[in-house]
Amino acid sequence: MSSHSKPRQILVTSALPYANGSIHLGHMLEYIQTDIWVRFQKLRGNQCIYVCADDAHGSAIMLRAEKEGITSEQLIDNVKAEHTADFADFLVNFDNYHSTHSAENKYFSELIYERLKAAGHISTRSVTQYFDPEKEMFLADRFIKGTCPKCAAEDQYGDNCEKCGATYEPTELKDPRSAISGATPILKDSKHFFFRLQDFTDMLKEWTRSGALQDAVANKIAEWLNSGLQEWDISRDAPYFGFEIPGEPGKYFYVWLDAPIGYMASFKNLCERRPELSFDAFWSSDSEAELYHFIGKDIVNFHALFWPAMLEGANFRKPTGINVHGYLTVNGQKMSKSRGTFIKARTYLDHLSPEYLRYYYAAKLSRGVEDLDLSLDDFVQKVNSDLVGKVVNIASRCAGFIHKGNAGVMVAANPAPELTDAFIAAAPSIADAYEKRDFSRAMREIMGLADKANAYIADKAPWALNKVEGKQAEVQEICALGINLFRQLVIFLKPVLPKLAADAEAFLNVPALTWNSHNTLLADHQLNAFTPLLTRIEPAKIQAMVDASKEDLEAAATETAPAAVVGNGELTKEPIAAEIDFNTFAAVDLRVALIEKAEFVEGADKLLRLTLDIGDAKRNVFSGIKSAYPDPSKLEGKLTLYVANLAARKMKFGLSEGMVLAAGPGGDEIYLLSPDAGAKPGQRVK
Ligand code: MSP
Ligand code: ZN
Repeated sequence: MSSHSKPRQILVTSALPYANGSIHLGHMLEYIQTDIWVRFQKLRGNQCIYVCADDAHGSAIMLRAEKEGITSEQLIDNVKAEHTADFADFLVNFDNYHSTHSAENKYFSELIYERLKAAGHISTRSVTQYFDPEKEMFLADRFIKGTCPKCAAEDQYGDNCEKCGATYEPTELKDPRSAISGATPILKDSKHFFFRLQDFTDMLKEWTRSGALQDAVANKIAEWLNSGLQEWDISRDAPYFGFEIPGEPGKYFYVWLDAPIGYMASFKNLCERRPELSFDAFWSSDSEAELYHFIGKDIVNFHALFWPAMLEGANFRKPTGINVHGYLTVNGQKMSKSRGTFIKARTYLDHLSPEYLRYYYAAKLSRGVEDLDLSLDDFVQKVNSDLVGKVVNIASRCAGFIHKGNAGVMVAANPAPELTDAFIAAAPSIADAYEKRDFSRAMREIMGLADKANAYIADKAPWALNKVEGKQAEVQEICALGINLFRQLVIFLKPVLPKLAADAEAFLNVPALTWNSHNTLLADHQLNAFTPLLTRIEPAKIQAMVDASKEDLEAAATETAPAAVVGNGELTKEPIAAEIDFNTFAAVDLRVALIEKAEFVEGADKLLRLTLDIGDAKRNVFSGIKSAYPDPSKLEGKLTLYVANLAARKMKFGLSEGMVLAAGPGGDEIYLLSPDAGAKPGQRVK
């Protein structure tokens, strides 16, 4: 950017996370990618506004709230507080974080719907769907389970079979059941509202080739466009947590109708706090501002087809670009709860600094839609070698000599102008990489510069020179240059490492650095005390995070896992598992155990540590039953049942050897199973 060009006006969004679950490291890929791009734009002096919100509507949220015994509003408030804290602690700097369950979003959803309707883009017709007669609600595909019509696998979802991969209509399932109540669903008709997407085919053909999409995405969309667009069902029947359609009692906007409108709503909400911002300047059909949506590859159709069509039909501007990223894998595989690689944002933060992950993602993100792997070994190695070994090292090597030898004052001298010139000359290319979201190239170029700085210092070896009579002035010059090079690197890394940059600014004793600050050098300048800016990742921390992720799983499992059949054989909400033969059952070695000791586990929300007497031996077991036994000493002396041949599992808190048996829906309703009095520890259950 030349200093004469007009600052750009840019509005940026990340996809709105669902308000029914925690943020995990897969989500974080997106929010970190977006945040880096936004911080880069701000550092360059552009007006860049970053908004987001929780996606708070839909039946999944309504049902989860019901299950937790709270209102949907309470649930989304709780989750929003959790999400906001996670994002803040990952240094994701939204200008506004709102909710789709808001007055602004209701207003714009109604407005857009009314405008589409007035222009003839809404139609209605009757749709026949499965209906849960007990719960009195229509069932979305994922709330219907049954036997696969192709391969007869049991317990498959309403639209596809996980066993054989077949896709089908829910009505083709054999023995369909409601996953909510267990009842057999009935077919029922109801009036639905549709958005006539096909009215926008020509516009979409043009827009999707206008440079708004990555090539791979545009090609995918072209396939859909060429096979003909269908009208899109935008209504759901009550009960539903969402906005009622104006003039249509009992009919609600489908969550995906009002979700992207949440981008507008969040911006509108911000405008009310920041009067210098004009809503129309960003959203009117003739807006000159830029608008970018960062999303994952799974939600492309909503953003590159439905959303631009809705905007066009309602006379708003269309996005400048949809920036799509791939999916996160961990250690080369899909995130897995049992492997402990389904890592929640909070679990990561409990163990590691956010900037390590921000740097690692930056080092791996390109402008493409390929999946990105978080290899935990590579993560440790790369962060330690690049950030600690290369960048921070420059400052820690030089600061001491300046403090000891010259009272913390950097002398005015540049003993290697070719180096500082090379750093300045590299800036446009680094900026170009940031602008294009090619962060991996930006990081490579920055680390290349860091290598040059380190090579210079290693060559001059100020630590040796300082011992030579009469060379101290030269040492001061070398170290002043080292600090200047470090300062330039910090500027280039500031979008990725905002906290390191703030700490470095404090050490350098300078006001907030901007992109253009890289053109100047410090001379005759007083430094503040140097404190280590980033320390190495200890591999043990990674293991602890993985173990804790397994504990999250254990806690979640005990929260939701009731036994299949209780007492009289009445079916609870959990369907009976697939049939097994006797040998399979006999393979489970169940024993009577005496609980000798039961105690709290420091740092674990849901676990108790049990010491079991199993006759000839003692066993240590971690069990997720704390909420049901707030006074664990009450368990001591009790008999229970114990799976003796379950593989031991290493957890954050130690080894868990086997498992005790309990029934109940979870929370404080967990019932430990006990044999009748008289049974002896170690006796086998047959
Ligand atoms: N609520 C919708 C988005 C509505 S936008 C108007 C949604 N929410 S989500 O919570 O499931 O996902 C939020 C974002 O995180 C999406 O862009 C999604 O692609 C991204 N990711 C979720 N899991 C991911 C990975 N494992 N890896 C990378 N991105 C992932 O979709
Ligand atoms: Zn099947």
